[in-house]
Amino acid sequence: MLLDPLSTVLLPALFGIAAAQNGKTDSTYDVLQYVDQLIGSSNGGNVFPGATLPYGMAKAVADTNSGSNQGGFTTDGSSITGFSNMHDSGTGGSPSLGLFALFPYAGCAGDDVDGCDYPKKTRATSYDNSSVVATPGYFAVTLASGIEADMTVAQHTSLFRFKFSVTDAAGNASSPLILMDLTDLSDSRQDNATVSVDAGTGRITGNARFLPSFGSGTYVGYFCADFSGAPLRDNGIFVNSRASTDIKTLTISRSINGYPLPGGAFVRFQNPGEDGILARVGVSFISSDQACSNAESEIPSFDFDATHTAAETAWRDKISPIVVETTGVDVSILKNFYSGIYRTMVNPQDYSGENPLWQSDEPYFDSFYCIWDLFRSQMPFLTILDPATVARVVRSLIDTYSHEGWLPDCRMSLCKGYTQGGSNADNILADAYLKGISDGIDWKLGYEAVVNDAENEPYDWSSEGRGGLDSWKALGYIPVQDFDYKGFGTMTRSVSRTLEYNYNDFVIAQIGAGLGGLEGDVEKYTARSGNWANLFNPDQTSYFANGSNTGFEGFFQPKYLNRTWGFQDPLKCSNVDENPNSVCSLQNSGAETFESSIWEYSFFVPHDQASLITYFGGPAAFVERLNFLHDQQITYIGNEPAFLTVFQYHYAGRPALSALRSHYYIPAYFAPTDAGLPGNDDSGAMGSFLAFAMMGLFPNPGQNVYLITPPYFENVSITSPLTNKTATVRNVNFDPTYKNIYIQSATLDGVPYTKNWIDHSFFTEGKELILTLGSTESTWGTAVADLPPSLGKYEGFGNSTTNSTSAYRKRAVRFTEHHDSIFPNAIPHLGADEKTGANYWAHAQGR
Ligand SMILES: *[C@@H]1O[C@H](CO)[C@@H](O)[C@H](O)[C@H]1NC(C)=O
Ligand SMILES: *[C@@H]1O[C@H](CO)[C@@H](O)[C@H](O)[C@H]1NC(C)=O
Ligand SMILES: *[C@@H]1O[C@H](CO)[C@@H](O)[C@H](O)[C@H]1NC(C)=O
Ligand SMILES: *[C@@H]1O[C@H](CO)[C@@H](O)[C@H](O)[C@H]1NC(C)=O
Ligand SMILES: *[C@@H]1O[C@H](CO)[C@@H](O)[C@H](O)[C@H]1NC(C)=O
Ligand SMILES: *[C@@H]1O[C@H](CO)[C@@H](O)[C@H](O)[C@H]1NC(C)=O
Ligand SMILES: *[C@@H]1O[C@H](CO)[C@@H](O)[C@H](O)[C@H]1NC(C)=O
Ligand SMILES: *[C@@H]1O[C@H](CO)[C@@H](O)[C@H](O)[C@H]1NC(C)=O
Ligand SMILES: *[C@@H]1O[C@H](CO)[C@@H](O)[C@H](O)[C@H]1NC(C)=O
Repeated sequence: MLLDPLSTVLLPALFGIAAAQNGKTDSTYDVLQYVDQLIGSSNGGNVFPGATLPYGMAKAVADTNSGSNQGGFTTDGSSITGFSNMHDSGTGGSPSLGLFALFPYAGCAGDDVDGCDYPKKTRATSYDNSSVVATPGYFAVTLASGIEADMTVAQHTSLFRFKFSVTDAAGNASSPLILMDLTDLSDSRQDNATVSVDAGTGRITGNARFLPSFGSGTYVGYFCADFSGAPLRDNGIFVNSRASTDIKTLTISRSINGYPLPGGAFVRFQNPGEDGILARVGVSFISSDQACSNAESEIPSFDFDATHTAAETAWRDKISPIVVETTGVDVSILKNFYSGIYRTMVNPQDYSGENPLWQSDEPYFDSFYCIWDLFRSQMPFLTILDPATVARVVRSLIDTYSHEGWLPDCRMSLCKGYTQGGSNADNILADAYLKGISDGIDWKLGYEAVVNDAENEPYDWSSEGRGGLDSWKALGYIPVQDFDYKGFGTMTRSVSRTLEYNYNDFVIAQIGAGLGGLEGDVEKYTARSGNWANLFNPDQTSYFANGSNTGFEGFFQPKYLNRTWGFQDPLKCSNVDENPNSVCSLQNSGAETFESSIWEYSFFVPHDQASLITYFGGPAAFVERLNFLHDQQITYIGNEPAFLTVFQYHYAGRPALSALRSHYYIPAYFAPTDAGLPGNDDSGAMGSFLAFAMMGLFPNPGQNVYLITPPYFENVSITSPLTNKTATVRNVNFDPTYKNIYIQSATLDGVPYTKNWIDHSFFTEGKELILTLGSTESTWGTAVADLPPSLGKYEGFGNSTTNSTSAYRKRAVRFTEHHDSIFPNAIPHLGADEKTGANYWAHAQGR
């Protein structure tokens, strides 16, 4: 696609100067030239490819009528329905936001306002594929009608520019009409939306109430649109397919039929010049007045180029601390990398000053969509590249706890979203805490918030906290068909919830240990973090649907309240599950694992891989199982639980296999093309996976651990925005065909380094890691002393004959008994009915 000439020609030079002034890097390239916002704009990536600032609230783009228009614009042959101002990126569920769409006409048939087409369904217009330009802070497209649209943004304001041919097809002078529609992307608008147009100035203001895309409740959005560039002719409002210049104000219902009823306002102009008409749209969640003042202060003089340049500068400042050696590397690799990085800063969104729900001086971030997706690599990535924002995000999460009583899991458009598994905001807090993020964060309050998740059950745990806490505390697992009269949520996912709650408890213990003086807590939560073993059934086998044995024994299984085993086929809800009756999301009839299989969840013991390896029969058997998971495509890299499994070979002393697996997935499953993402980007979750994998340091989130693999570049330098120190990973014997991907030896700041992991001080202290590569696996990083931290003890290493023998089975059984004896008063057998709570499958679809 086309690149903005300004970025490719002028700005590299500017960037070079800026970099030299900071003394950070010696790069002479502009990182923005490698950002391709259209990656993931088709095939379900659902990215927002338009104009936004980092974490911006205004997100301007053309919306299409694609069935996959969650991010607004798509490159799948759909038509454009309008140009709206707010979006989410990479989400599943219903499309989010898409508020307040403009749509331009060069003129109306018969020069009559009723000669223009108002409803979204009928006005949709195709566009010229080759006209699409999507660069940081900018988006452009030409409609089939010949109207050229481009747009840029400030934090709460979009600036659109529409250019019309001076004469229409009939040779008549152009009299453009621009309409403003109250309808959102998912047609969720509720009753009594209002709009007014000022007869003298053409300013349009209004507001409407909408539904969040994967949550409960409603929210109200406000806007303020001003125009510049051509004399006003007239203006008015429209309802359905009819308009009038006599009426200036409209309040409109959702209507009981064909909802929501099309409605909005319009402005007509006389003879715009070649520079076209500018439409400046401020947005707010507080009031139309605030939307107007946002617009007036952010883009006071409708200066398109200055706004665009400021947006580019904001992006360059965020991304340029990461510089790679580009020599020898294909440009597609660079695009993949920098576009992934770019997408980590589109969502969440900074709504500070725009939160109508409570008064606070703390920052307010929204569009956590969902934390189940974000905790794994996106937030850890930002902890390296944008720690100041992570500090503000953590403060916002804690402030949300203070005012709503709970840390969020999913949250969008000021509403509570649906929790997918554990209380995984705990993991984000722990990750930031352990990596020394402190700027303005009240960590004592943060600790209170995570303990609240672990100790108190909310009445509605489908939106916050955890369910089944009585059972959790008494039995040490979430029973299938739990008896829970205290709080309500979908009574499924007992295996994946157990595993996630279990890890949440581990990270709480880590924060507690760091804060000091909480010894009892540390012991309690560390003990609870062993609960995973209570669902390990050493006798469980796994067969394919055709009856052939996978050959593996010992899997997590559901367990009833009376401590007898339930059953879920370990392959159910895996990528190879072809059973049309498998239900794997938040439905009432869903499985005991969320959007994933027992096979995949079997590896989700991020804090005690050593014990898990023993349970699986030793490192060789563990590796065999991990290979089987990937080779048989039981896992799918397009969903987040797969991320860590790519690198878990490190724990079995086989870091070479992590590197091999990383190159198996990139670029085969992550191509830098419109259709190149393997699934929803989920904010920037997929983008952050790419960025970390290609940088050669993958986090185990919630721990101060990065697993080392060779970067995809000869070297990569990351300047810490906190300390200004530059960390570098350098590959000796770098091979851009990626045959030399095996580390033979390493040095850290010149000293031999054999550990296959590194901690966050690498980044903040600006260390240098030099990796010497070869074409075959070596013994580097394979000794027990080289392995990443684990709660349990690594056993059976250095002995290739150790495999699934009876030794580990005895252990498994003993561990379970031990836990039962900790809880002598465990609830006796209670026959619980399956809860039939609210059916929100309509919302859950696609997540
Ligand atoms: C534009 O691209 C889309 C997706 O590749 C394709 O379906 C459509 O046919 C293209 N349109 C034209 C006019 O080439
Ligand atoms: C163009 O001008 C002709 C002649 O005045 C008129 O009949 C026709 O309706 C005009 N078309 C439009 C689209 O305004
Ligand atoms: C919409 O306005 C009507 C008329 O004023 C009123 O009766 C109704 O309660 C309003 N609906 C909502 C949801 O506010
Ligand atoms: C990569 O290493 C080469 C050779 O040491 C050096 O010239 C270059 O500046 C380095 N690039 C980065 C991005 O660190
Ligand atoms: C059964 O299915 C598995 C997985 O697809 C395959 O590897 C195996 O060869 C099949 N076995 C038979 C007997 O068809
Ligand atoms: C335990 O509970 C399950 C589910 O209610 C039931 O099927 C099973 O028979 C019970 N087992 C025992 C030993 O009570
Ligand atoms: C890092 O560099 C920036 C810009 O040069 C400067 O403003 C800031 O004070 C420096 N921070 C530290 C910790 O040195
Ligand atoms: C390796 O494992 C086998 C089988 O468990 C055992 O007999 C042998 O002693 C072990 N060797 C070492 C060096 O640990
Ligand atoms: C485990 O090791 C023993 C001894 O080497 C071997 O006979 C057996 O087949 C192995 N079992 C598995 C499942 O690999």
